[in-house]
Amino acid sequence: MANLFSLADLSIPEVNKILNRAEAFLDGAQSRAAEDKVIASLFFEPSTRTQQSFSMAACRLGAKVLTFNADSSSMQKGETFYDTVRTFEEIGSDALIIRHKENAYYKKLTGVKVPILSGGDGTGNHPTQSLLDLMTIRQEFGGFEGLRICIVGDILHSRVAHTNIEIMRRLGMDVYTSGPEEFREEGCDFIEFSKALETMDILMLLRIQHERLTGSMQTTAEEYNRDFGLSLSRCGRMKDGAIIMHPAPFNRGVEIDDEVVEGPRSRIFKQIRNGVFVRMAVIERAFSE
Ligand code: CP
Repeated sequence: MANLFSLADLSIPEVNKILNRAEAFLDGAQSRAAEDKVIASLFFEPSTRTQQSFSMAACRLGAKVLTFNADSSSMQKGETFYDTVRTFEEIGSDALIIRHKENAYYKKLTGVKVPILSGGDGTGNHPTQSLLDLMTIRQEFGGFEGLRICIVGDILHSRVAHTNIEIMRRLGMDVYTSGPEEFREEGCDFIEFSKALETMDILMLLRIQHERLTGSMQTTAEEYNRDFGLSLSRCGRMKDGAIIMHPAPFNRGVEIDDEVVEGPRSRIFKQIRNGVFVRMAVIERAFSE
């Protein structure tokens, strides 16, 4: 049974194996690894990309998908997270895809006997997002060693940043962070945004995670856009061949301007497309190990 909670649990060969399989799916490989399986998609936090691309991946592997809406579930009658998950296991789900706002929610689920694939836990980990980011980077640059990336924005509350910093450092990339002081984090190499613009191979933009802020934000959206927003003129200062990534959802006019979203440096929609293939690889792995 191959759970997926955090990329820190995987060796580099294991990460590469998933990426290779995802590439094979992109190139047209077929698999019915999840034929006759039922996968429950349990999102206790909002999602578009992760939930729907996991569902698409499951369908392409032959699985059926059970969906769940916390707002219309028995959680409204006091049922706990644990009891909700156990219910989906007990009614016959063969695997569970779970997103929850609590960091390391999966530690509450150690007794669950079917594979759990994380769709993100609080500010902790977002393993499949990071895998699709890596797939996109490898397609662009052919590898990872020595590439310079700056993750810009709300580092403090971002599970995407936390997951990527760990795995990208292990893969030999030079990982920097930038953004407003209120979102900086110890141990994440900080670089001024103006310097990052001109020196990085990859700029990965983040949205501000308003839902995780405990107080009010010190920086207004206008100030954020003025100081850190990626505009066409700022794009013009990037290195030849440098690319822009964003896990999405993105806030147009805040961290990224309209014209940049689908501009020549942007790989944002490619990332979204790659999400289906890495999730196919992860689901196949869950049923084959
Ligand atoms: N990138 C990402 O996790 O998007 P969703 O919140 O829409 O799943």
